[in-house]
Amino acid sequence: MTEVITDPAMFQAACAAARALGARVGVVPTMGALHDGHFALVDELGRRGATFKTVTLFVNPLQFAPTDDLARYPRTFDDDLARCRERGVDLVFAPEPEAMYPPGFSTSVTLTGITDTLEGSFRPGHFDGVTTVVAKLFTLVGPSVAVFGRKDYQQWRVLKKLVDDLLLPIEMHGMATVRESDGLAMSSRNRYLSAAERERALAIVRGLRAAHAAFASGERDPMQLALLARAPIEASFDSIDYVSVVDADTLSPLDRVHVRALVVVAAHLGKTRLIDNTVIGEETSPL
Ligand code: PAJ
Repeated sequence: MTEVITDPAMFQAACAAARALGARVGVVPTMGALHDGHFALVDELGRRGATFKTVTLFVNPLQFAPTDDLARYPRTFDDDLARCRERGVDLVFAPEPEAMYPPGFSTSVTLTGITDTLEGSFRPGHFDGVTTVVAKLFTLVGPSVAVFGRKDYQQWRVLKKLVDDLLLPIEMHGMATVRESDGLAMSSRNRYLSAAERERALAIVRGLRAAHAAFASGERDPMQLALLARAPIEASFDSIDYVSVVDADTLSPLDRVHVRALVVVAAHLGKTRLIDNTVIGEETSPL
């Protein structure tokens, strides 16, 4: 049976009670509209030894800019809950925005450096919203194991750093990106795509694959690798925010790729913004 809690204090008490009974608490923070990518994270919680699995469903207004898609972000609570039940989730925490941000709420958690580039440059304030809500969620969950997706690679590095910097009692795990059979990274935003856009979206996979192929043939110049990844995306997408090859740990620019590097993309198809990435020298090519 999956318990549903909307009140933050009750969520905190339920996690503490589970721990008091000897459970290892696990958490997968999400914004809902759950797909198989999210459930891969839930399954990973089990592999990491969590015996009390929680999923948070909260479309966090703080991480959306006024021009972002907050109002149209998909909300599929009944389906999400049914699938959490099937997958053996013990508790779903689904607060209202007013419960997380009551009137007068004025604290923000900010990381510097790693948040300045890539998503940080194109979505000012976005990471402050993410780190603030996740810091709150971790405070409620307490000592636990958490799993995040490498689909949002920069977010994963930022949140890992949040936990390290603040000594939060959270064991963090990053999970490989789950893809559709044709390689498209699963995303709640894929449902915005028309059939034609869905086809064009595959250019991202072709770009990532081109970077892997060039790296395998010995190309080590990050600029050249980025150009090769960019070409198919430029041909299919309406606009590109970035296609970059950067250090996979610090996300800083590289002079040359030595062992591994992050190839990371953000681009627009109509009103939909898609992101994806791969780590050359470490992961296998998508498809
Ligand atoms: P959301 O976009 O719902 O994603 C929740 C988690 O699922 C994140 O860790 C994300 O990286 C992971 N995820 C999404 N698609 C995935 C895929 N195809 N394969 C593997 N993992 C995938 O990310 C957020 O929500 C929010 O920013 C949040 C962290 C919950 C804070 O509000």
